[in-house]
Amino acid sequence: MAKLTAGIACSHVPAIGAAMDLGKTGDPYWVPLFQGFEPSRRWMAQNTPDVVFLIYNDHATAFSLDMIPTFAIGCADEFKPADEGWGPRPVPVVKGHPELASHITQSVIQSDFDLTIVNRMDVDHGLTVPLSLMFGQPQAWPCKVIPFAVNVVQYPPPSGNRCYQLGRAIRRAIDSFDANLNVQIWGTGGMSHQLQGPRAGLINKEFDARFLDQLVTDPESLTRISHVQYIREAGSEGIELVMWLIMRGALDAKVREVHRFYHVPASNTAVGHMILENAR
Ligand code: DHB
Ligand code: FE
Repeated sequence: MAKLTAGIACSHVPAIGAAMDLGKTGDPYWVPLFQGFEPSRRWMAQNTPDVVFLIYNDHATAFSLDMIPTFAIGCADEFKPADEGWGPRPVPVVKGHPELASHITQSVIQSDFDLTIVNRMDVDHGLTVPLSLMFGQPQAWPCKVIPFAVNVVQYPPPSGNRCYQLGRAIRRAIDSFDANLNVQIWGTGGMSHQLQGPRAGLINKEFDARFLDQLVTDPESLTRISHVQYIREAGSEGIELVMWLIMRGALDAKVREVHRFYHVPASNTAVGHMILENAR
């Protein structure tokens, strides 16, 4: 059967992708950020999965404000890097896993979570920047990727609790897929950040530190954080953290923290990153 081996949390700031694409990772501004991901790349080289189930949000790129699915699963063979206004990032095309994606779709919808099925979609920085951080700049991504887009752009996003319970349903779906696959689940976005309005640039290190601690030891306590608390404590874009709760909901109750990294700032964002392993 397929086996969910690990979960990864990772911010997805577009400027990080631009730094890599433009050869600026050695600039003093960026050195500490990329150093924090060196252990992650070493771990990943030893633990490359067959498939990544990658939870991210589309930033009004593939979905305009005309149509906004709350949860959308990518079932296509491949997904091209999106043009977000400066041309598509020069990164490999993302290869999907239609069989596993279709199985998860069926299982999760029959567990009462209504997903939108997406058979054609370009993927923006929300998905490609974490791939770049974890895998560097290969000719082709070393595994298949199932994109899973969550609406955190247009109010109302799903609740943290809804996301956590959805993660549990995704886990049951992965566990019941009859193929010998090593699967990881990634939750992207966060941590505290606000991109607009009078509080633009907001960072809350205390909130972020607590969130990282509780993500490991007491994730259910995080499911009780309300939308208003996210906005007040973590800024308007801090709501992206609900996507980490899908990832955590899919993992075992008890996980092993392999790596943690926190860095302020990258662009306007507090970058948070964690690798959590399930029991072997
Ligand atoms: C930034 C962060 C994000 O999560 C995002 O989607 C866009 C921009 C930033 O900090 O610049
Ligand atoms: Fe974002």
